[in-house]
Amino acid sequence: MELVQDTSRPPLKYVKGIPLIKYFAEALGPLENFQAWPDDLLISTYPKSGTTWVSEILDMIYQGGDMKKCQRAPIFIRVPFLEFKAPGLPTGVETLKDTPAPRLLKTHLPLALIPQDLLDQKVKVIYVARNAKDVVVSYYHFYQMAKVHPEPGTWDSFLEKFMAGEVSYGSWYQHVQEWWELSHTHPVLYLFYEDMKEDPKREIKKILKFVGRSLPEDIIDQIVQRTSFKEMKKNPMANYSTVPTEIMDHDISAFMRKGITGDWKTTFTVAQNERFDAHYAEKMAGSKLSFRLQL
Ligand code: A3P
Repeated sequence: MELVQDTSRPPLKYVKGIPLIKYFAEALGPLENFQAWPDDLLISTYPKSGTTWVSEILDMIYQGGDMKKCQRAPIFIRVPFLEFKAPGLPTGVETLKDTPAPRLLKTHLPLALIPQDLLDQKVKVIYVARNAKDVVVSYYHFYQMAKVHPEPGTWDSFLEKFMAGEVSYGSWYQHVQEWWELSHTHPVLYLFYEDMKEDPKREIKKILKFVGRSLPEDIIDQIVQRTSFKEMKKNPMANYSTVPTEIMDHDISAFMRKGITGDWKTTFTVAQNERFDAHYAEKMAGSKLSFRLQL
């Protein structure tokens, strides 16, 4: 009998010192020749920071608020994920081949691994940052349900790995800071998940201005409503439920899990919180970035 190789949960693979999901590390070779188009728009985030949310908002803007058109395909096809690769699914580079201009692109890569042409062509970037405590809690649940990751281990050990930058995509601290620094020399709209929760309409208007588009007020209101957590959670074109269970198991934890700010309080112990705060102060010393931990 032939042995079926178990493709799930391989260990992370380091590329230029950055740990990545093994399959994504393998996708970087073909990405080196990536050619950016001047009207591309790159959505960049550290994982679990609101990527899918801002992607859905942008597709709705690009489709002029035509909700039917936004049902044409799952979000990972409408907004190709550059470094994506997983057994049995088209890679990000393959998905790109069928994507017409103007393209929306997604990445979680740190700057050291980003295809150079995106920087050379001065492609506009929308970066979304989310507070580290909610990110690490969301990431812990995501590691469990998305089986391309290694086993997350206990919550306590996962928290340690996150603080040490030993989770996929490496250090959150470096990611949020280096993309912030880039915004001084490159067209980057730097957004915060917490601001989007507080006033999505205000943030959508910032996005519209940045991408040089305008929409009638009632369409903007519709976009706010259709991209609410409640709506996106039940939308199969936005909630990742079309991905095979061997890759993402929503019975373990839904991709659209809670969608709130401050969930970390239900997970961090007092001791973990104190340790995290002290480490955070060291890692973010001198940074102008400030995050809200509750609304
Ligand atoms: P939680 O796990 O805290 O619920 P990403 O798309 O970058 O992977 O981020 C996923 C996180 O964003 C998840 O956080 C998910 O629930 C949340 N999210 C997705 N869509 C959202 C929306 N419309 N409003 C608020 N949060 C959303």
